[in-house]
Amino acid sequence: TTHTITVEPLGTELQCREDQSILDACLRNGVWLPHACTHGTCGTCKAQVLDGDIDLGDASPYALLESERDDGAALMCVATPRDDVVIEGDVDIEDGITMYPVRDFSGTVAALDEIAPGVRRLVIDLDEPMEFNAGQYVQLNLPDGDNRPYSIANAPHETGRIELHIKRTENGVATAGWVFDGLAAGDEVTLSGPYGKFYFRPGREKPVLLLGSGTGLAPLVSILKTIMAIEDEEGEWEHEVVMYHGVATSADLYDREWFEALAGERDWFTYRPAVSREQFDGRQGRVPALLAQDYPRAGGNVAYICGNPAMVEDTMRALMKARLFPRDIYREDFFDAA
Ligand code: FES
Repeated sequence: TTHTITVEPLGTELQCREDQSILDACLRNGVWLPHACTHGTCGTCKAQVLDGDIDLGDASPYALLESERDDGAALMCVATPRDDVVIEGDVDIEDGITMYPVRDFSGTVAALDEIAPGVRRLVIDLDEPMEFNAGQYVQLNLPDGDNRPYSIANAPHETGRIELHIKRTENGVATAGWVFDGLAAGDEVTLSGPYGKFYFRPGREKPVLLLGSGTGLAPLVSILKTIMAIEDEEGEWEHEVVMYHGVATSADLYDREWFEALAGERDWFTYRPAVSREQFDGRQGRVPALLAQDYPRAGGNVAYICGNPAMVEDTMRALMKARLFPRDIYREDFFDAA
């Protein structure tokens, strides 16, 4: 059974199956609603149901409060229609940004390499190119029919392939049970995308801070490679780009030689490893602590943060203390997918 979803204030009508989330139907039909976790836990996709009957799905009581439910709010990533439904969502997209509809893709594993202890780089050659914005993510389908989100680590201009950085989690069905055990070059995989509201705003004429921990570096590398492409195309990039990579030990600093070489070639780029459990370059510490030392004043920058929730929160706080306002900070809370 399908139902008609009307999305206000656009007035756009689209079809949604009873077993499909309203968010999924919107994203696949080119109506972009804000979203992040797509699993009912972050609250980003909250919208008002103006008319019709829905199933609220597996909405976390913290992401959707009882009082909000009573007022007709719902989380579109887990809500499914029981009837024709009218919703009102935050459909605004910033000027100069194109959002691409979500689609299903198939591809072949081109490479799968261990790049740090417990971290693999998975490169997939897609059968059809995917358009996306630097920083967005895909949902990789697992052999058991479930899926897991991974940020895309390559730049959008390389549309025919997708590079993902995958961290092993003990007993994780996606990682320990598949990517780290069994998956091999030449295998067929399927995925959907692009997803997410964490993406590069190339129009913001400011120095850029790229702040990542662990495999949260992936979307930041996509942004970095996009800036390199802009420089190559336009002949210049005039803003400083400083990238911090937070890890436990120097062995976890994957692609370090590549970043160091790049920093040697492009004078706008600085690479700062933040190693927390051993001395490195005479320093030791997490990203928020090193940032606080290096930037007593951070105003005038635009920051992109991606890491585990504690790292993102602490980094936000360090930036705000250094007078960088939330409007200049973009964040992605990254849960290592099991
Ligand atoms: Fe996170 Fe829906 S609750 S995207």
